[in-house]
Amino acid sequence: MAVKKLNLAVFISGRGSNLQSLIDACSDPEFPANISLVLSNRPEVLGLQKAENASIPAITVDHKNYESKALFENALQAELEKHPVDIICLAGFMRILSAEFVARWGGKIINIHPSLLPDYKGLNTYERALADGQDKSGCTVHFVTPEIDDGEIIIQKEVRILPDDTPDILAKRILVQEHIAYPEAIRVIAKSKGSGEL
Ligand code: GRF
Repeated sequence: MAVKKLNLAVFISGRGSNLQSLIDACSDPEFPANISLVLSNRPEVLGLQKAENASIPAITVDHKNYESKALFENALQAELEKHPVDIICLAGFMRILSAEFVARWGGKIINIHPSLLPDYKGLNTYERALADGQDKSGCTVHFVTPEIDDGEIIIQKEVRILPDDTPDILAKRILVQEHIAYPEAIRVIAKSKGSGEL
């Protein structure tokens, strides 16, 4: 029996390689989701081009044009209401969403983070893992709560840290796993919601 696919809104701020991994996953007819909207808070970033190349509605809501976070988020919400959206996927989105916005979308916002949470929340995850002499790191897809990088974990991928790793080398190795993890996380959510059983 055909079951409704999940509609994703993907929020970006930059190059959009995780967006591309979701676009690629959605090109498989068996994948349980479609991307209905790509939204960037920064104009003219590479990720917007990737969305346009895939004929996905792509818009910029530039936070600099709004006097407050509340007004910025009202504009985000207005764009979301123009499209069918079941899940918001943060994919390198560099704005912190307010507790009000997160509550409004209760349990329907997910994020990808380049560390094995709960380790290394926040920025500079590669530098910090290397400085601590860790022998592994990785990435996490998790539900978003008002607390940064803190919600329930959906999926994690481990990556070995090698003796000669620099932050850039480690970031590249983790990114390969991010591109596998995000589509997998969508499959996990779809399964839990009974979606995508085509
Ligand atoms: C990724 O490393 C992601 O984990 C982090 O921001 C980066 C975004 O990269 N939250 P991209 O824009 O998806 O290429």
